[in-house]
Order: sequence, then C-alpha cells, then structure tokens
Amino acid sequence: MPVVDQLNMVSKTPRHVAVIMDGNGRWARQRGWPRSRGHLEGAKAVRECVEACLELGIEYLTLYAFSTENWQRPKEEVDTLMGLLQRFLRDYTRDMAKRGVRVQAIGRLNELPPECQDQLEHAITTTANNKQLTAILAINYSGRTEIIDAVQRLAKDVAAGKLPPDSIDAELFSSFLYTRDLPDPDLLIRTSGEMRISNFLLWQVSYTEMYVIPKLWPDFSRQDLVDAIDEYNRRQRRYGGV
Ligand code: FPP
Repeated sequence: MPVVDQLNMVSKTPRHVAVIMDGNGRWARQRGWPRSRGHLEGAKAVRECVEACLELGIEYLTLYAFSTENWQRPKEEVDTLMGLLQRFLRDYTRDMAKRGVRVQAIGRLNELPPECQDQLEHAITTTANNKQLTAILAINYSGRTEIIDAVQRLAKDVAAGKLPPDSIDAELFSSFLYTRDLPDPDLLIRTSGEMRISNFLLWQVSYTEMYVIPKLWPDFSRQDLVDAIDEYNRRQRRYGGV
C-alpha cells in the first residue's frame, strides 16, 4: 500500500521525529563486509527516510549522524563517515532543494573538516527558504556539549550584566540551545535494539515518546517509519499530568 494511503489510516502525525541511526557496523559484520559498507548502506537509508518523511507530512526530522564521541573510532572510519556526509550533501542537496527540504545542522560544526563545513554551508543556504520538511543533521553533536555551550553563553551574558540570573527559566534556557528554533521531538526512534539515549538531545527529549526496534539502521524502511507513527498514535502523552 502506498505510504500516503497508510498515512490516512493514522490519525496524528508527529511534527518532529528524531532518529538514532544505530547498527551500521553490525549490519556489515553480519555479511562479512567492512564497517564502511554498513555506513554506505546507512546513508541510502537516510535518503529513504527523508523521502518517507516528505510523503507523511512530518515537519522536522533530526538525524544523529556523528556524535562527539565518534572521533574515538579508527581514523579510517571517521574519514569514511565524513566523506559519506559530504557525498550525501553534494549528491542530494539539489534534489532536497527541489522537494522543499530545508537542511539544518546542529553540533560543534566549527570543529568539522573545512570541506565538510563548506558542503554543509552550501546545503543550508541553498535550501534555507524551503518549508516542506526541515532535515536537521546532528554532526559532532552531543547533548552534554550542547548544554555546556548554552551554559557558557548564558554565563557570559549574566557576567556582562545583560541577564539577571532570576530570569533564567526553561524557556530562556532553551533559547540558548542549538535547537532554539525547533520544536521538541514528539517521537524518538532508535534502531538496533539498544535502550539508550546515547547523549542525544538530552534536554529536548524530556517528554518525547521512544520507539526502539531491533532492526539495524541500513534495513530501516518506510514501513518501519509508518509502524513507528502507528505506535506513537497508540500512546497517550500526559506531560506529567494525569
Ligand atoms: C551507528 O552505527 C551509526 C553511526 C555512528 C553514524 C550514522 C551515519 C550514517 C547513517 C551514514 C551517513 C549519514 C548521513 C546523514 C548521510 P554503528 O557504526 O555504531 O553500528 P554498530 O553499533 O553496529 O557498530
């Protein structure tokens, strides 16, 4: 059944879906292939996921593409991931621009290789006015560094006398995060079965519904996204109320 028809069967589409794309390495190992092949297939699954979000009318998609901890991986694997990101942006930006996708990125982007920063900058500016779907790539991202960066900027404003400490509340704090212009995720999907947040959007997922599936990321399909939304629809969100 086409995805659009499946959408008609679900009553409520989450505005913002965040994804921890886990299991590329295991996917490759299961086939006796190098980990890099798993990341390559993972990048294809990213494209399919973007397409499915467009069809389903999801407004925001945040993808955990590279964590601040991922620098600890062998240099060869880090280079593969950075290369794939650049290739994804180089080959797919024009298509995303046409389809109404606005590309954004969160993380310590200034620490990325210059070529990667350039490709990102190009994708972000080319797609800046698009409205259909905002695709946010979390690159060199971790929730703790995001919070530390926000606290440092806040503390500077307090020290400069620009911000009275008593005025700091949740709303003001959120406005210092990388995600200041984004709604919190409604649904967080994690593949490969691990029941962990892994330093992703720590502040923003306070009331997010989690959906963990055993499938490895390269196998993640449109149907898996539809199933996740279906499950999301069965949940009752109470935000701490009754
Ligand atoms: C986790 O698999 C995945 C990553 C660390 C990176 C995700 C990257 C991609 C999907 C490809 C490039 C991204 C884009 C946006 C084009 P893992 O290596 O931790 O798998 P494992 O737990 O099985 O070892």
